[in-house]
Amino acid sequence: MTKLDYIPTPLDFAQKYLNRLDIPCVYQEELFRRELNTAKLDGLFIELGYYIGNTATSLCNTKKDMILYSFDHWKGLESFVVPNSKKGACRWRGELPKIHENVRLVIGDVQDTLEIFLNHHNKPIAFANFDMDGNSDYFVFCKLAEMNRLKKGTVFNISHALKLYEEKIYTSIYDKFIEFVEKYNVKFKYFAFGDVHLALIIDEDI
Ligand SMILES: C[S@@+](CC[C@H](N)C(=O)[O-])C[C@H]1O[C@@H](n2cnc3c(N)ncnc32)[C@H](O)[C@@H]1O
Repeated sequence: MTKLDYIPTPLDFAQKYLNRLDIPCVYQEELFRRELNTAKLDGLFIELGYYIGNTATSLCNTKKDMILYSFDHWKGLESFVVPNSKKGACRWRGELPKIHENVRLVIGDVQDTLEIFLNHHNKPIAFANFDMDGNSDYFVFCKLAEMNRLKKGTVFNISHALKLYEEKIYTSIYDKFIEFVEKYNVKFKYFAFGDVHLALIIDEDI
């Protein structure tokens, strides 16, 4: 990859990596509003990666009648987002800021908690915000597919699909999503970009 002489934006991502310029690019707040208005399945609203709850709070303030199940172990990132990203980045040891009343925390490594959670909540996924790291997000994509929770209309918000690090663009989380798409022959549509997020809609039951 070559050095950049400008700061890449989601539009660069759309143009260079997806070869598409027809995908709307909006601010995070507007993106969440559009995603949550579009997430019409009678199903679960989940978030992978609560950390200190910035996105969870924003999502819950956007859709006031939603219960958002948010997963975290607070040990930080375990795998790549960008090369050399520090293991443990985003580790949190302090007391959490006030948790929105509509958030339900699911505490532990998703590799241990997700299947148990899904066995207790037998609905498809209406909306999922992926905000962990490449391997953990990939694990969740696959587990949701294997447990038949991804249906036509499921909305995915993938954070950090495009990442800038030391003047280079990385797409490691987006690449893991595409690996998942190829593995399960997933049909999906691009929906919109917003800040660090890429929004997608699953277009056929998996
Ligand atoms: C980028 S932060 C999330 C930021 C958060 N959405 C916010 O707005 O405050 C990523 C979080 O994912 C969590 N995480 C990463 N891998 C995980 C895993 N395998 N199981 C549970 N949590 C994980 C980390 O502990 C970290 O808190």
